[in-house]
Amino acid sequence: MKTYKVAVVGATGMVGRKMLQVLAERNFPIGELMPFASAKSAGKEIEYCGKKYTVIETTEENIYKYRPEIVIMSAGGSTSAKFSPIFAQAGGIVIDNSAYWRMHESVPLVVPEVNPEDAFNHPIGIIANPNCSTIQAMVVLSPLHKAFGIKRVIYTTFQAVSGAGVNGYADLEEGMKAVAEGKSAPESKKFTHPIVGNVIPEIDVLLDNGYYKEEQKMIDETNKIMHAPEIKVTATCVRVPVYYGHSESINIEFEKKVTPNEVREVLEKAEGVVVMDDPANHVYPTALYATNRDEVFVGRIRKDYTIESGVNMWVVADNIRKGAATNAVQIAQLLTKE
Ligand code: A2P
Repeated sequence: MKTYKVAVVGATGMVGRKMLQVLAERNFPIGELMPFASAKSAGKEIEYCGKKYTVIETTEENIYKYRPEIVIMSAGGSTSAKFSPIFAQAGGIVIDNSAYWRMHESVPLVVPEVNPEDAFNHPIGIIANPNCSTIQAMVVLSPLHKAFGIKRVIYTTFQAVSGAGVNGYADLEEGMKAVAEGKSAPESKKFTHPIVGNVIPEIDVLLDNGYYKEEQKMIDETNKIMHAPEIKVTATCVRVPVYYGHSESINIEFEKKVTPNEVREVLEKAEGVVVMDDPANHVYPTALYATNRDEVFVGRIRKDYTIESGVNMWVVADNIRKGAATNAVQIAQLLTKE
């Protein structure tokens, strides 16, 4: 079997560590593994499949020295802006989890269940992994758009702290500990307000149009991934004190008359989707249930009585797995077929 020289950039981070785990679970054909991170972690050891690897500092010199063929990257936008083109020039194909390249016209934005063919058209050697909240929505919306035609989407998200990396996770962990000891929550490292006992309607930076950037990402990426600029999309993205798993309330308006049962039938057959929809028996997906699973879970599928043809639904997935690491590794798996 052909094997590949694989780099994970950001290998010490929240998503990078999960990428290593998912690569191992899927028996990805790695000939040589190269964990890259910043100067801070260079020389530290990480483990992969029972073997120890030394973390490599991400520098131009090291990229040309090691020349990985597949580069899976989750090290933030500025690191990706600087180093993705260098990895590509050194002969690698980069799968980047940051937002930096997602809307670039020469960079495909790929959810393997939705637009796998786009992964093979990467003229500058970079493929973007979509935003975590967008990925899980796409796995559900794309089959519905193909079946019925979607006119408009309203997203409201409830996003876990792990989406903000190790510092976001630590904010909740330390805050919970402090509160349990009767103290007030310590100063937040990542969020603009305490996250313990709170709900914060601010993710990423504020844009001139009044939206925070996470909301704009969901809007733009939905149109790009489905090749459907005509779909109207709006979003409110909210950080909640949950460790793993993004939950989304999604309201969809269809082009033609569709019943909740017809929606359920399409989703029951959709790749990567699990329908959990028996509200009378308290069956619907939750963040805890979705944690450490790779599928996207859907429930609470019900009619929106305020419009001609619309449904509301509740969509949950593990933001670090399907929302980041699993989706990136699935793209890498597609590439091995190229
Ligand atoms: P490091 O641990 O050396 O700082 P998270 O999103 O969980 O905070 O993780 C971010 C990841 O991105 C970490 O692995 C971090 O490495 C890595 N990273 C941050 N800045 C750089 C950089 N300039 N070059 C390479 N990797 C970086």
